[in-house]
Amino acid sequence: GRVIFSGIQPTGVPHLGNYLGALQQWKLMQDEAEPDTKLIFSIVDLHAITVPRPKGLLSQWKREMIAALLAIGLDPARSTIFYQSMVSAHSELQWILSCTASTGYLSRMTQWKSKMSMSDDASLLDEKAKKGLKHGLFSYPILQAADILVHRATHVPVGEDQRQHLEFARECVTNFNHAYGVSHLVAPSTILSPSKRVMSLTNPLQKMSKSDPNPNSRILLTDTPDIITTKIKSSLTDSVNSVSWDPVGRPGVANLLSLLAHFDPAGRSPAALAEGELAGKPLLDLKRRVAEVVNDELGPVRERFEEFMGRREYVDQVIADGASDARRSAEGTMELVREAVELG
Ligand code: TYM
Repeated sequence: GRVIFSGIQPTGVPHLGNYLGALQQWKLMQDEAEPDTKLIFSIVDLHAITVPRPKGLLSQWKREMIAALLAIGLDPARSTIFYQSMVSAHSELQWILSCTASTGYLSRMTQWKSKMSMSDDASLLDEKAKKGLKHGLFSYPILQAADILVHRATHVPVGEDQRQHLEFARECVTNFNHAYGVSHLVAPSTILSPSKRVMSLTNPLQKMSKSDPNPNSRILLTDTPDIITTKIKSSLTDSVNSVSWDPVGRPGVANLLSLLAHFDPAGRSPAALAEGELAGKPLLDLKRRVAEVVNDELGPVRERFEEFMGRREYVDQVIADGASDARRSAEGTMELVREAVELG
């Protein structure tokens, strides 16, 4: 059977990019899965500690993330949902994989290269600052590979920004199997959602991201209708006040049309929407439509999020059950791996 695995960092309430690029896909795959398909979703707290944060925030973010995953409709009776740090096999396999992973490949990863050139405030890094970068950021993709491989995942639904990490995970499979002359690890396929790259509302040339210092650049799953409407209405477009489809010349308008297309019940493309009843209409009409469909989608999610934030005992049980399911799922792989490496 298939094994579907994916992960998300608990670094705040998920945004619309996380939702359309990944979470909505997780829920869809859960609902359409064959009975013998395993579904495993991890809140990757070990990845989250690669960046410093104020004391107390990580525990809060983890709570918010699990409430968000339940709110979007993941069902713990069908899908295993767990905190990565509660399943030590992830870190153990990470170490073992790091012994057959090449530093050359890791240093070519775009995420690392962008950290090597720019600081978080977008100023250029000097040599001393480069040397101060943390090793956890460098080996981050190995831990991600371990997450996937330890559960023998066959399919990994993610957004575009994770594509390279998935290629690296396949590289880890080749390296390990080759080094030990086995075929214990399984190469996963990348599943990209139709909205694989949702752009920032304030800079449509950048992806929507949790680390953007401007909160108006993203819509959170918990934003109220008023906030959502304000953020979309003030999103950066251009000075031509009429709707048309031109992704290169008009990236802001194109991002809004793509959002609208994502929710279109008739499944029309952004280009078709721009040529339909919106053709030549003022941008405010487009923004109103986008705000409406996003609000319709997120309204019920926000309500369920509040509900799960209040059901502490239930959520604690989900966390404990998820960890024991995930430990069981990882153990079979670890027995094979330890034996191959002669650590068993
Ligand atoms: P993270 O936490 O940054 O994002 C979670 C998911 O959201 C997707 N995503 C987007 N999709 C479309 N448009 C956007 N603007 C956008 N922003 C984020 C991401 O592609 C991702 O699917 N390294 C991973 C977490 C991870 C993981 C794993 C994923 C750890 N281990 C194993 C898959 C399998 C990350 O930081 O995602």
